[in-house]
Amino acid sequence: MSKPDKYQKIVELAKRRGFFWPSYEIYGSEAGFLDYGPLGALMKRKLEQKWVDWFVRREGLMLIDTAVVAPEIVFQASGHTAHFTDPVTSCKNCGRKWRADHLLEEQAGVSGEGLSLRELESLLAKRGVRCPECGGGLEPPQVFNELFKTTIGPYAEHVGYCRPETAQGMFVNFKRLNDLARGRLPFGAAQVGRCLRNEISPRQGPIRLREFTIMEFEFFFNPKNPECKRLKEVEREKIRLLTEELIRRQVEEPVEVTVAEALDKGYIKAEWNAYFMARAKQFLNQLGVPDENQYFREKLPNERAHYSAQTYDQVVKLSRWGYVEVSGHAWRTDYDLRMHMAYSGEDLRVYLPYPEPKKIKRKNLKPDKAEIGKAFKDRAALVLRLLELTPAEEVAEALTSEGVYRLRGDGETYEIKPGQVSVVEEEVEVKGERVLPSVVEPSFGLDRMFYVALEYAYSEREGRVVLKLPRDLAPIEAAVFPLMAKDGLPEKAKAVFQSLLNHGFNVEYDEGGSIGRRYARMDEAGTPYTITIDYQTLEDDTVTLRDRDTWKQVRIEAGKLPQTLRSLLKGEMEFERAGAPL
Ligand code: GLY
Repeated sequence: MSKPDKYQKIVELAKRRGFFWPSYEIYGSEAGFLDYGPLGALMKRKLEQKWVDWFVRREGLMLIDTAVVAPEIVFQASGHTAHFTDPVTSCKNCGRKWRADHLLEEQAGVSGEGLSLRELESLLAKRGVRCPECGGGLEPPQVFNELFKTTIGPYAEHVGYCRPETAQGMFVNFKRLNDLARGRLPFGAAQVGRCLRNEISPRQGPIRLREFTIMEFEFFFNPKNPECKRLKEVEREKIRLLTEELIRRQVEEPVEVTVAEALDKGYIKAEWNAYFMARAKQFLNQLGVPDENQYFREKLPNERAHYSAQTYDQVVKLSRWGYVEVSGHAWRTDYDLRMHMAYSGEDLRVYLPYPEPKKIKRKNLKPDKAEIGKAFKDRAALVLRLLELTPAEEVAEALTSEGVYRLRGDGETYEIKPGQVSVVEEEVEVKGERVLPSVVEPSFGLDRMFYVALEYAYSEREGRVVLKLPRDLAPIEAAVFPLMAKDGLPEKAKAVFQSLLNHGFNVEYDEGGSIGRRYARMDEAGTPYTITIDYQTLEDDTVTLRDRDTWKQVRIEAGKLPQTLRSLLKGEMEFERAGAPL
């Protein structure tokens, strides 16, 4: 049997110690679904809390929690019913279905992301890509929409979809969020929640799931004042970027630049995106990922989601799969708000008053409703609303130079011709203006980051596992052991255990087996500190405190444990200073 790789060792540990395992195991499991066990569920909450602390609290975002199932119109407006697709191919022999671009990447080392169906078909044939299961030939790829479809209530015609991202919850609630922010741009709203994507053939354990948790926020700013007020705090921070231009030149090594340089050189287009990318890098540092094992890869135009004007994926090196995306940083512009405005008929613009009223000459679009109706039939109302949101200058210029204006809509482009609109110039006094905010979206995959933290914490010492988790992610914070299960030691140990519970720690009590075995159990559960009650404790009320990573021990008064543990877990105290060395 071949030696297990690091991933297999982690999966084995995860099952044995209760971090995670495949869902529905007694029925043979269902690919793309994962259950968290007792240690995993606690650690997942801590990771979520850490993210909330790092982004929501520090950036002053509004944390909300919105519905998972949405009526069809929400995802028609967002463009997901039309665009949320991947290419699927079937084996001519065994009938299994595969994601065509992934097979191409795995078997030919060619990235298939963003290729047309025809390009994929020809590359699959040229590179001799076969069914990974039976070696059979492959059918031409087809488009597969990954939204999970359902019906709402007892009405078969009332179609709903499970959300594939939490983002739409922020967009559809924008009016309320704007009221709560008192209309003061910039502001952001965040969510942590379950999302569903009907992945074609997920085969990467916790890395590609059909049901998973996203932590993301939409940060709304004035497109006419896109300056990031907090840029100064990170402008000297170094980030590594694999830009579109480097990818096109087939360069594989990212460039390292400061955040300020990345903006000056135009590598990152939106300041707020650059700012949050720096914060995301720091966040991954805190999960144990050093700078040299992470970078940001720009998505090529054909790889980008339909809503994005620029996206960088934050990728982290993993032992089995190489660099894997853990977060995406999309500049969604005003795409989503514009679409929801057009579909709902609600005005989602933010009113920004001028310091003084202004007299301005402005061009106005006057659509000819009858002509638009004739040309666009059941889409006419949508086209009219989209036109209301379009600068008249843009339309006038295109009509003059090209004789047509291409209006970007819900996955469609509507060709506006002269005669369907006229452009008139008028002078008016205005007190302010309504603008649709621009949006940057940092979006993190919680389950992937959970796995990343486990992999970066995994180490072996003297033939056994020591899980050196960041202390603030450890599911069990401390364990209390009586040295022997006799002579009054268990009673004293239980009193210490109870006192730590009362102080709010996640703490475990164990009196079974040798002390060495008990330490080993806690090391592989990632428990940073173990406390042993021995005969000296009965005399002077001191205990030994052991550090998971160094195996060093100090002697400390039992009464000082809560405060000391709190400082240690927060990283505010060196272990050596916690007590007298042993
Ligand atoms: N909202 C991020 C994504 O859909 O990937």
